[in-house]
Amino acid sequence: MTSYLAPAPQPSVRVRAPGKVNLSLRVGPVQEDGYHPLVTIFQAVALYEEVTATQVPVGAGVSLTVDGPQAEQVPLDETNLAWRAAEALARFAGVEPDVALHVTKGVPVAGGMAGGSADAAAALVACDALWDTGLPRTDLAGIAAELGSDVPFALLGHTAVGTGRGHLLTPAMTRGEFHWVFAVREDGLSTPAVFRRFDQLSLGEEHDVALAEETPLMHALRAGDPHALGAALHNDLEPAALSLRPELERTLALAREGGALGAVVSGSGPTVAALARSRQHALAIAATWTAEGAADTVWCTTAPAHGARQFS
Ligand code: C5P
Repeated sequence: MTSYLAPAPQPSVRVRAPGKVNLSLRVGPVQEDGYHPLVTIFQAVALYEEVTATQVPVGAGVSLTVDGPQAEQVPLDETNLAWRAAEALARFAGVEPDVALHVTKGVPVAGGMAGGSADAAAALVACDALWDTGLPRTDLAGIAAELGSDVPFALLGHTAVGTGRGHLLTPAMTRGEFHWVFAVREDGLSTPAVFRRFDQLSLGEEHDVALAEETPLMHALRAGDPHALGAALHNDLEPAALSLRPELERTLALAREGGALGAVVSGSGPTVAALARSRQHALAIAATWTAEGAADTVWCTTAPAHGARQFS
């Protein structure tokens, strides 16, 4: 009789990081470095990217596989933010970047919900655990900011005020749970292209971005008042996204006709976010969008949600 000993599985770490919606996004004129100064209120939503980091032999380098909705749209090479995150962490910590990364998508691709940024945040936390580099969160946040403006928020989660490029964060106080529904398009929008259209439309000129404008929104969050929050939703990039995708006007209008407490383009779009009274109400708005062909897919969820966190 032969006995068979299965090889021991390689150690691996799994991390989830959330997508986001900008409750408010105020954008100033483009700076010399090509970026726009922002004042934004981020809220993490309970749609998660999952990154599994698995140990590989020394010298194997980074590899990447992806599954889940729209996975075929995601690059599998060193341009992927998760891959870049692993390499950036290895450089910072002085270790070899040897890891097999697997991403399971749970956030729309190129939808204005920072799915790629969530991959980067999750990859940072996963590799930090796998390689036992044990960096403090402040170091991870510094590496995150180099990778992209939204990556630090995907690490932090919950609700936060973002300034600078969106990477300087202050947690915001909130109460209760909010119900969101998202109208997602297969055909995403490029964030730089939306910012370029914003510049072409001169939307940032003579426009100072200031946190003072967010007082009603911050009150709504502290009170846990979804009606007041819905009324305060705002996105300076919305006219630019609408000019590139005029059909989004109808998606917004359908949500409002369906009694949404507020409806707004999420970040640089083309995802449209609608705030609902309840899960039932979110499902009703989703059904209207689907029936009217106003979205390729509809995603219902709650917020706020936690930041990048290991779960096995
Ligand atoms: O920081 P990140 O790589 O995510 O930004 C992608 C692009 O979005 C930038 O290259 C820039 O064109 C635009 N952007 C901007 N101002 C910001 C954030 C992003 O113009 N505050």
